[in-house]
Amino acid sequence: MSDFKPLVFSGVQPTGNLHLGNYLGAIRKFVALQQDHDCIYCVVDLHAITAQLVHQDLRGQTRSIAAAFIASGIDPEKHIVFNQSAVPQHAELAWVFNCVARIGWMERMTQFKDKSGGKNAEQTSLGLLAYPSLMAADILVYRATHVPVGDDQKQHLELARDIAQKFNIDFTDHIRKTSYGVDIMVGEEPVHAYFPMVEPLIGGPAPRVMSLRDGTKKMSKSDASDLSRINLMDDAETISKKIRKAKTDPDALPSEVEGLKGRPEADNLVGIYAALSDKTKQEVLGEFGGQQFSVFKPALVDLAVEVLAPISGEMRRLMDDTTHIDAILRKGAEKARARADLTMNQVREIVGFLQ
Ligand code: TRP
Repeated sequence: MSDFKPLVFSGVQPTGNLHLGNYLGAIRKFVALQQDHDCIYCVVDLHAITAQLVHQDLRGQTRSIAAAFIASGIDPEKHIVFNQSAVPQHAELAWVFNCVARIGWMERMTQFKDKSGGKNAEQTSLGLLAYPSLMAADILVYRATHVPVGDDQKQHLELARDIAQKFNIDFTDHIRKTSYGVDIMVGEEPVHAYFPMVEPLIGGPAPRVMSLRDGTKKMSKSDASDLSRINLMDDAETISKKIRKAKTDPDALPSEVEGLKGRPEADNLVGIYAALSDKTKQEVLGEFGGQQFSVFKPALVDLAVEVLAPISGEMRRLMDDTTHIDAILRKGAEKARARADLTMNQVREIVGFLQ
């Protein structure tokens, strides 16, 4: 039994500034995965126009995500970093997937319902409905197997599996006539597959970073208060101020994780400390249990500045002269295009397009 070669793919939308939640929930995982995986990281600019068509500075936003990748330690020489629109095969495969996927699948997506809810159909783009099909194409145009994402994307990945599965089954006979198929097990069933069943990589130390002003709300780029989040471009002084002003409760930190229950702000700050130091919450509480926030917060400031200030500094440097970042993206797109082209040629043959 052959199998698909492990390959990691993920994408980040170039909308709004990156914050600590994006860094701990996604980018830090991307960095770690490079150790023992072949990785492709994409700035998904085609996705950025689904919810809002016209952007002030889409190019600048695209560069800043790429800069965050590089500044955080993603190696564009060993792996691939590029922007989605530079590889037209994503959109081409998405078209095929639009014909594989069913409208009902798309309409059931919670994110679609949330974003289109309340407004009438005249205000929701067709692209927003089709978005998960493009996301499936992003991954499968490389026949990638593992996708690190936040838990909000889990449903979209299940849909990507449904699309891959339906393609594999609908085209089984066509796939068998080529040498491109791979024998895999889907549950108990052996399937001769062209596309792999992608595995989500969800979780990690801080899958959900919460607002610094309200521990029950997710840290978000759209929160009106800038004090609610730490932006990846914040300088040391700003990071320090935001942590010092972060909401807490009057009690000392507990010694056991259990004691964080019902204390969302304490839980969040301990979680951030743990994620930034690659420790578990229990290890952090082993060190700080019984201490007041007046002791814990300065320690968190030191740690956050130590980890984040070099990243924001490097991002600023990269954004000051964009020729370097543009060259990285251009080279990345060339490498990505070569791989995506291979898949698309095979897909065209499987589907039956005359070439
Ligand atoms: N939809 C993802 C998000 O909003 C971004 C994304 C687009 C993505 N294509 C992807 C993530 C492919 C993983 C794999 O966060």
